[in-house]
Amino acid sequence: MSFLTAWQPQSLTQEGRTFPAEMYISETIYQRELRQIFGRAWCYVGHVSQLQGPGSYFTLDLAEQPLVIVQNQAGALRGFFNICPHRAVPVVLGSGQCDRLSCRYHTLSFDLEGQLHESEGEQTEANPAEYPLRPIQVETWGPFIFVNLDLQAGPLADQLGELPEKFQRYRFDEWARIHSVDYWTETNWKLYVENNVESYHEFSVHASIARYYQATQAEARHHYYLQYAAFPPDDPDYAAKPPELISPGLGEPERTGKSTVSLFPNFAWIVRPWIAIIYLIDPQGRSRTRIRWDWLVPDSPTARAADNVQPLIEFFDNIQQEDLNLLPAIQRRIESSGYRPGRLSPTREVGTHLFQELVMRYLTRPD
Ligand code: FES
Ligand SMILES: [Fe+2]
Repeated sequence: MSFLTAWQPQSLTQEGRTFPAEMYISETIYQRELRQIFGRAWCYVGHVSQLQGPGSYFTLDLAEQPLVIVQNQAGALRGFFNICPHRAVPVVLGSGQCDRLSCRYHTLSFDLEGQLHESEGEQTEANPAEYPLRPIQVETWGPFIFVNLDLQAGPLADQLGELPEKFQRYRFDEWARIHSVDYWTETNWKLYVENNVESYHEFSVHASIARYYQATQAEARHHYYLQYAAFPPDDPDYAAKPPELISPGLGEPERTGKSTVSLFPNFAWIVRPWIAIIYLIDPQGRSRTRIRWDWLVPDSPTARAADNVQPLIEFFDNIQQEDLNLLPAIQRRIESSGYRPGRLSPTREVGTHLFQELVMRYLTRPD
């Protein structure tokens, strides 16, 4: 744990460097990240359209933690570890609708508040007070659901900072989720995020969007990295968009440009006035990561039509594949004895620098 114990905040311009190899390959550091970052920060888990009213639920393994998110009878969101307090069997599988969360092993069941439910005629020796499901915190930002496994953690708003205000005109509540995919990569989760928070490789790796990166505005503060690029005046994609595909209510900058956001630790988006790609980044091993992408469009029949949606899916999937073709090769080289940390670009890797500082701040907090 030499790097962790010796770590001091770094100035990007004087001494900013990429992480040493141990940060991407050490099982000890990875386990510490699961506890100190994914166990204590607000993490993105899904979109509200995955729930359809009281009793609806979905499960997920986030950073190797089995969780269930459920809508209670009043429609409020609740979250629990998906672990039966008797002998650790899941209390629910997949997603769907239920009145109670029921363990198949010895048939204990729990109401939507996580309390042991005793129905008439049911013989149980369990004392309800000793058998609640273990709760987690759940909050939303618009249609985006976040959880915090630490019941002592402050509210989601602390972590979001100015983001809700900056992006309120998009009214993402009114967008429709039209497609979702899980991508898997043999890559440490931080390499994926770092690739996503720099504005450096787009020229060379992503030919289809390189033109947007001539002039970008970037901001790295609190827990987030933002990047905005105005569409070039003669941009063929932008010029060809009929008004009915554009989200209503947008101001001039939102209507005439694209934004990317990365919110520490596991949420990000790419947003244009007619499409949003929402990222859920999920460590599933020290060199294995799941990336869930949800495609959202403004909720109109024209925008949801297949002839609008299909080209958008293909376009952004291509960009994702361009990154996924690179990242495992980087992981393998970091595992080589020939790897040494490189210098961070003071202008193009401000997001990477902020991300690394946040990782280290969380990792060096007392247990
Ligand atoms: S493990 Fe769930 S009731 Fe026994
Ligand atoms: Fe990329």
